[in-house]
Amino acid sequence: TVYENSAIASKSVAREIADLIKKKQAQKQPCILGLATGSSPKGLYAELVRLHKEEGVSFNNVITFNLDEYYPMQADSINSYVRFMNEQLFNYIDILPENCHVPDGTLTKERISDYCSQYEAKIEALGGIDLQILGIGGNGHIGFNESGSLQNSKTRLVALDHITRVAASGDFSGLSNTPRTAITLGVKKIMEVKRVILMAWGEGKSNIIKASVEGTVTNLVPASFLQEHNNATFVLDQGAASKL
Ligand code: GLP
Repeated sequence: TVYENSAIASKSVAREIADLIKKKQAQKQPCILGLATGSSPKGLYAELVRLHKEEGVSFNNVITFNLDEYYPMQADSINSYVRFMNEQLFNYIDILPENCHVPDGTLTKERISDYCSQYEAKIEALGGIDLQILGIGGNGHIGFNESGSLQNSKTRLVALDHITRVAASGDFSGLSNTPRTAITLGVKKIMEVKRVILMAWGEGKSNIIKASVEGTVTNLVPASFLQEHNNATFVLDQGAASKL
């Protein structure tokens, strides 16, 4: 779906999420959301905060699982995704803190594998993710599933691509301070969600959007796997859609 600009697109995605939350509330069920970081979902989170404040949309039945976190990463560090989510969304809505899950960047290496299995098990115990928000990296990564990730990949510790580290290096004041690894939800769990919305803005994303939407399905471009998902929408502004 192509919108005139990212603000209008973000409002539309926020409306879909609010409608889903309300539907689940009416059914007395939790609403399980998969959330992403990066600049692309910021407008969506601002709009969800507005819907909470101005229209009284409640998040008291919402349980969230974030896609990824740098490793190693302290939760209170300026660049942690925990902090990002608190500052963009969680601090301003009525979600219960214990319902907000972001992969833990503070574990010792030996514990990561068990932790990742438990992260997936928690999602499964809740019946899976109802709606997953995704951004897209310049190389087609989703979460931190970099180029080369397999379609059945699990939640795991990954090495970040050079291109991803360069993109993040501004936040870390230089490449040498930028993490080399991260924990990410695997492609398999992303493919299992009931509904996927990938958001991308600006002409800078247009080539990778074209490759993801119209190119062959390949693990070189993990976002192309979404062509095989039966309920996935790419929400784009005109710039991101300009090569389609
Ligand atoms: C990071 C995140 C991804 C995100 C990507 C794109 O790599 N781990 O989940 O999709 O950045 O970020 P942006 O939305 O800022 O372009």
